Amino acid sequence: MKPAWEIVITVAALTLQVNALEGKTEAAKYRERMDQVQDLQYDLSDAIAQKSSGKAIEASENIRALLQEDLDYWIKQKIDDAIGYGKSSVNYSSALAEDAKRQDFASAMATYNKLQSTCCSCHDAHPEKRAKAN
Ligand code: HEC
Repeated sequence: MKPAWEIVITVAALTLQVNALEGKTEAAKYRERMDQVQDLQYDLSDAIAQKSSGKAIEASENIRALLQEDLDYWIKQKIDDAIGYGKSSVNYSSALAEDAKRQDFASAMATYNKLQSTCCSCHDAHPEKRAKAN
């Protein structure tokens, strides 16, 4: 049995290789992450409606990790408004996980709506049109 860290490293290395082999651009990976965020967002909304703390924590933390990768991308691109929206979206996902831990589903709903409007603000700003080719 391999230790857990070795498995994690192997999986990470394989993922990198697959991405490199498929020649995926950063932009293509970005769209993939966004689709994942979208799916997780529905899971999160269901979890809040069902007042399921565990599911809401899991979905929020997964969303946060993906949005953090997006934020890193905009930092590399040096596109300030997207960096701002990215930071807000990461902060709201962290707040959502905290709300879920406290089982404060009213607050979670309010935070969820703030996250949603951050998604829309960033999309309306179309930072992808200003991104350098990668
Ligand atoms: C920091 C900016 C930013 C934030 C925050 C953001 N997005 Fe996006 N999103 C984008 C950009 C830019 C694109 C377009 C990418 C492209 O077409 O190159 C996009 C595209 C998408 C797409 C289409 C992906 C595809 O396959 O073309 C979905 C779905 C999506 N976002 C969902 C979300 C959701 C849900 C949230 C909030 C939880 C969110 N996004 C937050 C910037 C953002």
